[in-house]
Amino acid sequence: MANLKTILSGKHLLALSLALNASLVLRMGYDRGNKEGSCLKKTEHEVDSDTDKRVNSRSARLAVPSYSSRTNHPQDRDRVINLDYGDPSMYERYWREMGEKTTITIPGWQSMSYFSGWSDVCWFLEAEFATEVVRLHNAVGNAVTHGTHIVVGTGSSHLIMAALYALSPPHPPHQPIPVVSATPYYSSYPAMVDLQRSGLYKWGGSAESFEEEGPYIELVTSPNNPDGSERRSLINRSHGLQIHDLAYYWPQYTPISSPAHHHVTLFSLSKCTGHAGTRIGWALVRDREVAMKMSKFIEVSTIGVSKDSQLRAARILRAVSESCQGQRGESFFGFSHNVMDRRWKQLRAVVARSGMFSLPRFSPSFCNFSRRVVEPRPAFAWLKCEGDVEDCETFLREHKIKGRSGRHFGASPKYVRLSMLDSDENFTLFLDRLCSIQS
Ligand SMILES: Cc1ncc(COP(=O)(O)O)c(C=O)c1O
Repeated sequence: MANLKTILSGKHLLALSLALNASLVLRMGYDRGNKEGSCLKKTEHEVDSDTDKRVNSRSARLAVPSYSSRTNHPQDRDRVINLDYGDPSMYERYWREMGEKTTITIPGWQSMSYFSGWSDVCWFLEAEFATEVVRLHNAVGNAVTHGTHIVVGTGSSHLIMAALYALSPPHPPHQPIPVVSATPYYSSYPAMVDLQRSGLYKWGGSAESFEEEGPYIELVTSPNNPDGSERRSLINRSHGLQIHDLAYYWPQYTPISSPAHHHVTLFSLSKCTGHAGTRIGWALVRDREVAMKMSKFIEVSTIGVSKDSQLRAARILRAVSESCQGQRGESFFGFSHNVMDRRWKQLRAVVARSGMFSLPRFSPSFCNFSRRVVEPRPAFAWLKCEGDVEDCETFLREHKIKGRSGRHFGASPKYVRLSMLDSDENFTLFLDRLCSIQS
């Protein structure tokens, strides 16, 4: 004992007691967190009994994680869960599991030229990439590719600008053509349209209140960002031109009802496979002149699109197509469908319990890809604060959940858009937080 006293001096004892107190405080918080977790456990039970058992037995390694796998780090309690952006980190688990299947090596001498040299419409389009785009659309059945021209862009954001340029009347005395979209619209559209104060086009606001005579461009997003609704052109007047933004028209988000065949249809690698950082999008364009003008825009703004990214995208798209045919392990759309399905069930269960929020309802319909009736499972939750809460974004922020206010989408601040594509860990912490908010 005397030895112990000499080893543990006064200073040591003080430090020890502080450490014990700190761990007690953390433990109390942690236990409170676990009580909140009991709400999750109850809803987990509901979700499990409701979930299609085929889904969970198909692949043990890629199985959808349940609440019990959530992280219980005390430091997570103070972390803000940022669901403001649609960053698709959810898909990382699948691609990690695929290992080397999508790894490419590009030797130093390859892809050096500006030119790809085989398409007379889009001179920077890599043949391998174009082949895989067609193959995937044919496998999924979500777009007609026959008779269309492919234009590649640095993400579909680039292609939205290219399409606006290509569709705008070129010569004076035209006023800038109004660009409209039905509310709630993708929050980046107004900034994309007005950033450069172009003399060719200008943001014209919500399609519902658009009353001007003459030409206009309508951005039609289906399924829609932020609310997941299926959309068609709203205005439908003879002078109107449409850009169909189908970034989310893939089987993990929505039933594939028919192949899209519009004048300008945009897709994005970011939302299809989750490779947002590769910055690749593509347009399927019916009219050759429009496709050439879009290519011109890309030529002038960036002198083409990274060949390295196109080659990487080609390999990833090929892996997805092959997985659809059961050639390469777990099907990509099977995996992503299961994750989205479970997340939506979990979120709906938590929202139903809270009595404070509501979510849009979607009707199930037949999916030609999966050959069964499925319900849409959008990439974003368009959450509404019911009751007295007028500013849902601020309300959630107080509970350490960061979303994007309905205001940015031309809608009421009672709505908030929250990403459903974040990592498993963040999604579970988000549910945990939401579960702790009771009416
Ligand atoms: C509807 C819609 N269109 C386009 C984009 C831009 O995608 P990309 O990463 O291909 O530029 C997004 C991204 O969130 C989107 O939601």
